Amino acid sequence: MPLVTATEMLKKAKEGHYAVGQFNINNLEWTKSILQTAQELNSPVILGVSEGAGKYMTGFKTVADMVKAMIDEMGITVPVALHLDHGTYEGCYKCIKAGFSSIMFDGSHYPIEENIAKTTELVHAAHALGLSIEAEVGSIGGEEDGVVGAGECADPDECKMIADLGVDMLAAGIGNIHGKYPENWAGLSFDTLDAIQQKTGAMPLVLHGGTGIPEDMIKKAIDLGVSKINVNTECQLSFQEATRKYIEAGKDLEGKGFDPRKLLAPGAEAIKATVKEKMELFGSVNKA
Ligand code: 13P
Repeated sequence: MPLVTATEMLKKAKEGHYAVGQFNINNLEWTKSILQTAQELNSPVILGVSEGAGKYMTGFKTVADMVKAMIDEMGITVPVALHLDHGTYEGCYKCIKAGFSSIMFDGSHYPIEENIAKTTELVHAAHALGLSIEAEVGSIGGEEDGVVGAGECADPDECKMIADLGVDMLAAGIGNIHGKYPENWAGLSFDTLDAIQQKTGAMPLVLHGGTGIPEDMIKKAIDLGVSKINVNTECQLSFQEATRKYIEAGKDLEGKGFDPRKLLAPGAEAIKATVKEKMELFGSVNKA
């Protein structure tokens, strides 16, 4: 099955009161683990690529070609979208050219007029070539691959202005943070989310910073219109923990334990377990 946009899967998720997971990829192992899990659970999936991860993998074309080839070689039949995460204006054009099926333009750090102007242009550019597009209002706190946000809550009226530009999904800051949540985190602002949902109607809302949000908050966010949830750090932590255990147990020193296919296998399995747990929590299992 060729790559699809995120539009149809998120429309179905919003109507069906569940969320589709966006899992960020870093390399072949990450991509393979996420695709395998989506296929096993019969779940739609969005592969997220930050600009830093794109650069690490030598460029967006490498990523798009690898993902398309893996879908083909692995016989993946569930819907898969390949999505730029927190894209700059230039990054969006690069991904459109490279063959992504979806982009995110993060104009949240610009004054709202500039965010509107750039988002408007990119909506036309993306839609002209059949890609879906996510926009952002009110920045996500913390840091992800050099993208730093203050973490303010979005203004519902500004959300409506951006939603009306024809974007396919909208990320709005509601107190969420990239990476681990601090001990004194105030939690998600459901009043803000509710107000945004009322202003933006059928628009699928995106919850960034999915790592470490307690289950009850995830469920409430889905009830209030969130239909895409981004997870990045949690897969990294699962991979790290499993890899550390393998090495600390001295498994890399036994026989051919140094073979990269063996060395990276526990981490890859751990990513699969995390993705499975999230897909079950988000309710996207058997929704392909
Ligand atoms: P986490 O790293 O906190 O899971 O956030 C992921 C994300 O929002 C990607 O845009």
